Amino acid sequence: MSKPLSAETIAIVKSTAPALQQHGVAITTRMYERLFVDPAIKGLFDQAAQVSGEQPKRLAGAIIAFAKNVDNLGALTSAVERMATRHVETSIKPEHYPAVANALLPAIKDVLGDAVDERVLGAWGEAYWFLADVLINREAQLYAAELPDLETI
Ligand code: HEM
Repeated sequence: MSKPLSAETIAIVKSTAPALQQHGVAITTRMYERLFVDPAIKGLFDQAAQVSGEQPKRLAGAIIAFAKNVDNLGALTSAVERMATRHVETSIKPEHYPAVANALLPAIKDVLGDAVDERVLGAWGEAYWFLADVLINREAQLYAAELPDLETI
């Protein structure tokens, strides 16, 4: 289980929800530009969804919903389930998560500029890893459920 986020981190993340709502797609579009410099990561994505602009919108939606509900994760249960299922379908593994953190946090800074300082980026870094741990744990359960039952082989 992930370490709970501090009250201060929760307050900072919630206070940045309106800026993310306004600039969410710009941030995630920039995030993918940074992420796709690595061809191995790029290959994990369905380029059709990317070209249509669907994937940045879905990710922006997930990030905004998370910012609003960071102190009420129960509201995100069905969203987490959908993300984890899609991640397992596309073979996303724990080792892929640092690349997204390393693309997302600078992308927030690129788009929001002086509106974000080290404190805000630090809070978002903690929040990212909190959500990532929730997803990684659920994905591990789904991968385990996919394995054949050894006793029947
Ligand atoms: C906290 C981190 C992450 C969040 C919040 C997130 C969020 C999402 C969301 C909302 C979707 C769309 C689900 C749907 O179809 O409704 C998605 C799909 C996907 N995610 Fe993530 N994701 C995260 C981490 C990652 C990582 C680390 C990778 C790999 C580097 C990744 C790769 C993908 C891929 C390949 C898809 C399917 C895209 C498609 O349909 O073309 N995600 N993710």
